[in-house]
Amino acid sequence: MVCLGNICRSPLAQGILKNKVSSNIIVDSAGTAGYHIGNSPDPRSILIGEQNGINISHYLARKFTKKDFNNFSHIYVMDKSNYADVLTLTNSQEDKEKVNLIHPFDQEIPDPYYGNYEAFDKCYLLLNYSCEQIVKDLSLWT
Ligand code: 4NP
Repeated sequence: MVCLGNICRSPLAQGILKNKVSSNIIVDSAGTAGYHIGNSPDPRSILIGEQNGINISHYLARKFTKKDFNNFSHIYVMDKSNYADVLTLTNSQEDKEKVNLIHPFDQEIPDPYYGNYEAFDKCYLLLNYSCEQIVKDLSLWT
């Protein structure tokens, strides 16, 4: 799960998907920018998670690297800007094919960082829907 800062959208996406799949599936998240490396998720993402039975408070932000293409089979980005940034780090067609917008209809997950509570709530709903589709597409049912 990849967003810009790895404190709002992608840690929430990580927690949501993790909650829907068996514990042997590795779900991780990262940001394309390094501004928040080592930071906890935004308190508003932690709150939205908590309200939906998902604890993301222990996650720590990190930056996406080229090595992630070796470690992960699927890379989901939140918006077109993340997509462009991640694609600059690809080394092969195989790497490129791992990268997709998270929303099944290629809708972007708007950055809620400068938004209000409703922006985070909308983010949760879009991510929950997206993760339900991922579970179906990849046959990841628990
Ligand atoms: P995220 O949101 O990409 O969903 O984690 C953001 C968090 C921080 C910033 C931008 C977006 N920032 O500019 O610090």
